[in-house]
Amino acid sequence: MATEAKGETVLVTGASGFIGSWLVRLLLARGYSVHAAVLNPDDKAETDHLLALAAAAGDEGRIRFFRCDLLDGAAMLAAVRGCSGVFHLASPCTVDLVLDPQVWYPASKALAEKAAWKFAEENGLDVVTVNPGTVLGEMIPPRLNASMAMFLRLLEGCKEEYADFFIGPVHVEDVALAHILLYENPPASGRHLCVEPICHWSDFASKVAELYPNYKVPKFPEDTQPGLVRAEAVPKKLMTLGLQFTPLEKIIRDAVESLKSRGCIA
Ligand SMILES: NC(=O)c1ccc[n+]([C@@H]2O[C@H](COP(=O)([O-])OP(=O)(O)OC[C@H]3O[C@@H](n4cnc5c(N)ncnc54)[C@H](OP(=O)(O)O)[C@@H]3O)[C@@H](O)[C@H]2O)c1
Repeated sequence: MATEAKGETVLVTGASGFIGSWLVRLLLARGYSVHAAVLNPDDKAETDHLLALAAAAGDEGRIRFFRCDLLDGAAMLAAVRGCSGVFHLASPCTVDLVLDPQVWYPASKALAEKAAWKFAEENGLDVVTVNPGTVLGEMIPPRLNASMAMFLRLLEGCKEEYADFFIGPVHVEDVALAHILLYENPPASGRHLCVEPICHWSDFASKVAELYPNYKVPKFPEDTQPGLVRAEAVPKKLMTLGLQFTPLEKIIRDAVESLKSRGCIA
């Protein structure tokens, strides 16, 4: 891990995504050059918003695009060449399948992280993980990612009931910043839970309904195991690095306003 930000080049996989774009924005603002690994660099929907970020940072030359499929080792190698660090965010994550989040998604994340730890140990790599809850906030890319799509469905009156489902909302900017703070602090190690509160799905929905009574947010069955999952002290590791978590109310407002500005909701 490196400490010198200015002039340093880093790789961001999944750079065109919801969190990836925010990470690119913050990295550029801090003086980094970015290798942006995207599935298809010829697709303007993947690159234009990132080019706009570089232009806003005053230097389009500080972003370079790399065609990068995770299953293509040679492409990954080309993208990582010349970089002092890697922010690995790319992951298949579809809007449709998140309707049944219990099945494939957590398993894939757990297995991927386990594999990363094993690989790091065997190869002497310095790996740190960020484990966000449900990431919400202002969208930079043109398309909707899975967590914002789930939030949109809630506003539209979704009927899915996740029995005793807990949600750890966190602002997308906080997640991006968490990655950078960890990268810039070489002693950082291990896993980092990155959530603002952890609350029951029914409480989260109630808060959204309270702030935005004009939408059709349904009322969900309340927590049948109150107090079971409260982990207020867990994000402390990130807070000691200077991360101040955005309060829940602002997370919700930023997400709603972003969806509105895209015309997803009136
Ligand atoms: N959003 C959340 O609530 C949340 C919570 C916890 C963890 N995470 C993790 O955070 C990371 C980013 O999530 P996100 O919300 O920003 O999702 P996203 O907007 O869907 O971004 C994922 C990115 O990964 C790319 N990608 C997918 N499969 C790929 C492959 N085989 N090779 C290369 N790139 C590939 C996607 O490219 P295309 O756009 O071209 O498909 C996309 O740019 C993911 O690892 C996700 O699991 C997200």
